[in-house]
Amino acid sequence: MKITNAFVILYLKMFKKKICRLMPIGLLTISMIYVVYRAQRDVQWVLKSLLEVVPTNVITAMVPPSTTAPNTTITTTEIQTSTSVVSTARTEIHFPLDIDLEKYVRDKLEKNITIPVKPINEHNFTYIHRPAKCKFTRTTEDNVTLLILVKSSVRNVFLRNAIRDTWGQDLSGNVNLRFMLGYSISFVETTKAEAETYNDVIVENFVDSYPNNTLKTIMGFTWAVTECSDASTILFIDEDHLPRLNNILAYLRSLNRDQLGSLFIGYRLISGRVYKGKHHWAIPKSVYPYKKWPPYLRGGAYLVSQDIAKQFSIAFPFVKYLHVDDSYLGIIALKLNIKPQHDTRFMMVKKKLQKEKTHFVYNDYKQPGELKRDWKIIKDNA
Ligand SMILES: *[C@@H]1O[C@H](CO)[C@@H](O)[C@H](O)[C@H]1NC(C)=O
Ligand SMILES: *[C@@H]1O[C@H](CO)[C@@H](O)[C@H](O)[C@H]1NC(C)=O
Ligand SMILES: *[C@@H]1O[C@H](CO)[C@@H](O)[C@H](O)[C@H]1NC(C)=O
Ligand SMILES: *[C@@H]1O[C@H](CO)[C@@H](O)[C@H](O)[C@H]1NC(C)=O
Ligand SMILES: *[C@@H]1O[C@H](CO)[C@@H](O)[C@H](O)[C@H]1NC(C)=O
Repeated sequence: MKITNAFVILYLKMFKKKICRLMPIGLLTISMIYVVYRAQRDVQWVLKSLLEVVPTNVITAMVPPSTTAPNTTITTTEIQTSTSVVSTARTEIHFPLDIDLEKYVRDKLEKNITIPVKPINEHNFTYIHRPAKCKFTRTTEDNVTLLILVKSSVRNVFLRNAIRDTWGQDLSGNVNLRFMLGYSISFVETTKAEAETYNDVIVENFVDSYPNNTLKTIMGFTWAVTECSDASTILFIDEDHLPRLNNILAYLRSLNRDQLGSLFIGYRLISGRVYKGKHHWAIPKSVYPYKKWPPYLRGGAYLVSQDIAKQFSIAFPFVKYLHVDDSYLGIIALKLNIKPQHDTRFMMVKKKLQKEKTHFVYNDYKQPGELKRDWKIIKDNA
């Protein structure tokens, strides 16, 4: 606000000396513009925090999806076309380990060849609570089995209960739901009670905190491939999102076997700027020296096929830890030559729920009451 102060002083001085009357007004206008500019930057900042999107992308992310929203009849060719843009723009980045990860992961998957490199990011944690393995009861013609992994903060018991009471309550036999939590000394008892009552929380012995965010995601991938290998597809979703499961399942059932097997799709950000400075998304240059992230899927909601999840889980130990999990997956995807696929239906503000009926998720449910209200609307419309 130093500049504004300078303007005010100048203004007062000139007023005293009775210089030209128009000039102070001009200066006042300029300072007002500056103040408004500052204020709108702050408003944007708040919006960004709410949306939990890496800041530079907010503008893209907040474009009303109706303008770009695909038809309900969106075909995979359209998605593929949009991803091919990315493949031509594939950037060279060097992020440890600098090895041919794609080849190593393929060799491991196809021939069980142990990767001959020392891992730098071993996920060396043990389960505090390990929920029941997945169980699907599907009809013979239905190849879609969906595991939903909800990323949840250990302290938000009330949000988990809201999910259990709403969209988590009536899942069909081909859908399973688990919550991913970290550990907190203050919530040992509540977490234990949840585990005993619902048997649906995955908890490992790392502290539930923002810098450990990626540990949670790695835990989820690991659990999915070891304890839930029958799931054809995994939906990763944040605890404040409301999924429209009928739409998601209909979409998955519309895919052929190859498309279903190679799924890595969500709301894609093409050249997200890397945040520097004091923000909690900030990444020091020493950790990641580039200005842009490779294409990545917004962390709030995305679908991964079992095969792609396996590739990621093999790769994690060989890619340096980065606490921003969605960008981290983007880096690994680039290394593995997996193309993040884009679909606008993976993001929608909750106030458009009634209007945008074809979407997959709605964001920003911080109040159980709102979640219940909107879930009822979806149910009644199903
Ligand atoms: C949606 O699809 C219909 C035909 O199925 C077409 O007439 C219409 O132009 C499409 N709208 C957009 C926005 O692509
Ligand atoms: C893969 O190799 C490891 C040892 O390198 C072995 O323990 C494991 O049983 C093998 N798995 C299969 C499916 O052959
Ligand atoms: C993994 O953790 C256990 C205890 O939690 C420890 O004893 C072991 O040395 C660790 N292993 C590695 C490779 O860090
Ligand atoms: C997790 O986060 C906390 C604080 O944010 C930190 O002290 C801790 O070392 C991190 N890692 C693990 C494994 O808990
Ligand atoms: C579904 O599974 C059956 C048998 O597992 C297979 O023959 C069929 O091609 C699959 N269909 C799709 C669309 O993946």
